[in-house]
Amino acid sequence: MRSPFPGPSGLRIKSPDLLVAESGADLEGNGLKRSMGLFQLVCFGIGAIVGTGIFVGLSDTVAEAGPAVLVSFVLAAVTCVFTAFSFAELGGAIPVSGSSYSYAYATLGERTAFLVGWCLLLEYGISVSAVAVGWGQYLNELLGSMTGWQLPAALSNPPGDGGIVNIPAVVVMLLAALLLVRGIRESARATAAMAVLKLAILVLFCAIGFSAFRAGHLTPFAPQSIAGITSGASVAFFSYIGFDAITTAGEEVKNPRRNIPLAILICLGVVTALYCLVALAAIGALSSDQVAGRPAALSLIVNKVTHSTLGGGVIAFGAVVAIASVVLAVMYGQTRILMSMSRDGLIPRIFERISPRTATPVAGTWIVAVLFAVPAAVVPLDVVMNLTTIGTLAVMAVVNVCVLVLRRTRPDLPRRFRVPLFPASPLLGIAFCGYLIYGTGLATWLQFAGFLVVGALVYACYGRRRSRLVQSPDVVRPPDGGDPAGAVATAPAMAAREG
Ligand code: ALA
Repeated sequence: MRSPFPGPSGLRIKSPDLLVAESGADLEGNGLKRSMGLFQLVCFGIGAIVGTGIFVGLSDTVAEAGPAVLVSFVLAAVTCVFTAFSFAELGGAIPVSGSSYSYAYATLGERTAFLVGWCLLLEYGISVSAVAVGWGQYLNELLGSMTGWQLPAALSNPPGDGGIVNIPAVVVMLLAALLLVRGIRESARATAAMAVLKLAILVLFCAIGFSAFRAGHLTPFAPQSIAGITSGASVAFFSYIGFDAITTAGEEVKNPRRNIPLAILICLGVVTALYCLVALAAIGALSSDQVAGRPAALSLIVNKVTHSTLGGGVIAFGAVVAIASVVLAVMYGQTRILMSMSRDGLIPRIFERISPRTATPVAGTWIVAVLFAVPAAVVPLDVVMNLTTIGTLAVMAVVNVCVLVLRRTRPDLPRRFRVPLFPASPLLGIAFCGYLIYGTGLATWLQFAGFLVVGALVYACYGRRRSRLVQSPDVVRPPDGGDPAGAVATAPAMAAREG
């Protein structure tokens, strides 16, 4: 059999067909279940996206951009839109749990795929720690506004921030793990309920904010000119992170080739409209000077407009729910990506084990929860936010490259969704990612470079040697007996995946 996708030798490219077929083999055994429909998938996406960025980070974006925060949010959204098109095309064409890691494996080879998986530890693992810290802070605010009592700083703040250990952050991560190991159906139900609630709370905020709107608050519009708007967009970008988590559910979605692209585009449309409205309502109700740098800005605005603390308490409650659902969805995504990397032999095999009882990766989920609970317990909220952002932008740039490459190497692959204006859309996606990476600043670039060097070393010392791509007896080798990189799977196995 001739490989349709030979790939340059040495790159260790794994064909999309093989990726899909391998996940199909799991389904027939003790694999994941296809239980999520379009509505649940959209809720899961909203669950992963709307959280710390808008509830806590809005005031930081305003601090950078002033009333031009609106432009920053739109810029960040445009960056995401081009990349969302690319995720939608790839998520439909290669519906497996590895997301961008798997797309890179199918196009750019194993080394790049490993580094993408490594960067995803920033986007998912480290960010879930940071988000859990934010949850702890909001929980304490809520407790304070409802009962007048708060957890002592020693037990709710990390060292260096007036505390010893952040207990609420650890608790929310362990609770999320508990829910996740019970099964995807239960997690999806909880996420759907939380997504609907937080959308309702943000709509309520907009209604209250617009009732006190003063156009005079919008001038001067861009006090820190273009530089402020650019760095504001880099900060605002954090609030959009998570839409790609939809693709990590690739193996648990019904009709994935249709539902994954649709869910990504619906989520991004809803979230962009909502964020712009929330930002406009916020700076219309209070001046940007009053909003800038206030972590619980949304509660503050509602308290001022309604002249009571009740409204602010409701918003704080919404923030607690919103951030909890981000923890849940992002932790879910991390376990599925590690599962894919483990299946490929690039990390220890324990991450790929699926419990026959709950059909979830139980051991992998607990390891992720405990591992990332450590930074959640001892690291302040803002320390890792920039690293999360740059890691995510780098992954997104690679995903756009993957679309360009896969169109050339596998034009035959079924694609229910195709990026519009090809190749302009992925090229613009790369350009916008580069622009926002520029906005994160020199210190973050250097930290990120160091992180990549460590990843490359881990791959060289562990992943490359243990890779199952070259060991697997199931891999169909090309007739010349060469590298099985271009191996293809059998049609029945693919059909099994489509469910
Ligand atoms: N977008 C997610 C949030 O804002 C990471 O919490």
